[in-house]
Amino acid sequence: MPYLEIRDLQTHFRKRAGSVFAPTVETIRAVDGVSLSIEKGEILGLVGESGCGKSTLSRTVMQLIRPTAGSIILDGEDLAKLPPSVVRKRRLDFQMIFQDPYASLNPRMTVFSTLAEAIKQRHPGIGGDDLAGRVTRLMETVGLDPRFQKKYPHEFSGGQRQRIAIARALAPEPKLVIADEPVSALDVSIQSQILNLLKKLRADLGLTMIFITHDLGVVRYLADRIVVMYKGKIVEEGEAEALFDHPRNDYTKKLLAAIPKLAATPA
Ligand SMILES: Nc1ncnc2c1ncn2[C@@H]1O[C@H](COP(=O)(O)OP(=O)(O)O)[C@@H](O)[C@H]1O
Ligand SMILES: [Mg+2]
Repeated sequence: MPYLEIRDLQTHFRKRAGSVFAPTVETIRAVDGVSLSIEKGEILGLVGESGCGKSTLSRTVMQLIRPTAGSIILDGEDLAKLPPSVVRKRRLDFQMIFQDPYASLNPRMTVFSTLAEAIKQRHPGIGGDDLAGRVTRLMETVGLDPRFQKKYPHEFSGGQRQRIAIARALAPEPKLVIADEPVSALDVSIQSQILNLLKKLRADLGLTMIFITHDLGVVRYLADRIVVMYKGKIVEEGEAEALFDHPRNDYTKKLLAAIPKLAATPA
């Protein structure tokens, strides 16, 4: 049985269209029948151009948006069928890492407070040495010097801030981490450091992750499997190496062809 299984997931939005004289309602099928599965400890790359529905899919898996139809089965339990009060509790099992760590971290909270708050979500009664020890270990896990725990986000570089955001995502001991374009705003040299960190975390912690990107080149050495999404649907799925060596779908071929061009574009 897969760890997470998504079956025929649909997330639609309704949008007003037409004119004031003849109003109509348009349905946007942001996620339009997606099925996929993830094994425990696997990194799944979700790739597709901007607007194809990647973030909507991740927000639906997170249960921030309820699906229009379909199932999200984690560890044998269909999250789409749970009442909202139970969903709120389960949400702790899913943590996200976003593109812009500066926007996702509270600028008025030190690293210590940020991580302590996230740890307490899972362990409400924790404090003292136990809490301090966990904060220190989390910082070491993501390659940050624990001596910096009283500093604020603006005192760090972009790459270090993303490490703080990763530590915060790991703090509540999630079952699944969804990283939505986590390196897209970083310099290329920093990108590879963060990708290496995620690879190491998978090896050390057995992290299960969905890594979302519009850039197929980024996931080549990180993802075990890659799914390519286009207009709300999955158009190709395969082992990472096989997909790079023998893409079947025309859209995947286009994404592959775009990689060297992107790499040559000045920052
Ligand atoms: N809250 C929303 N209301 C209406 N339309 C939305 C909403 N969120 C996303 N969409 C639309 O759904 C489609 C997919 O968007 P998104 O999931 O953000 O794509 P991606 O993350 O791949 O760039 C887009 O057409 C977008 O405009
Ligand atoms: Mg997005």
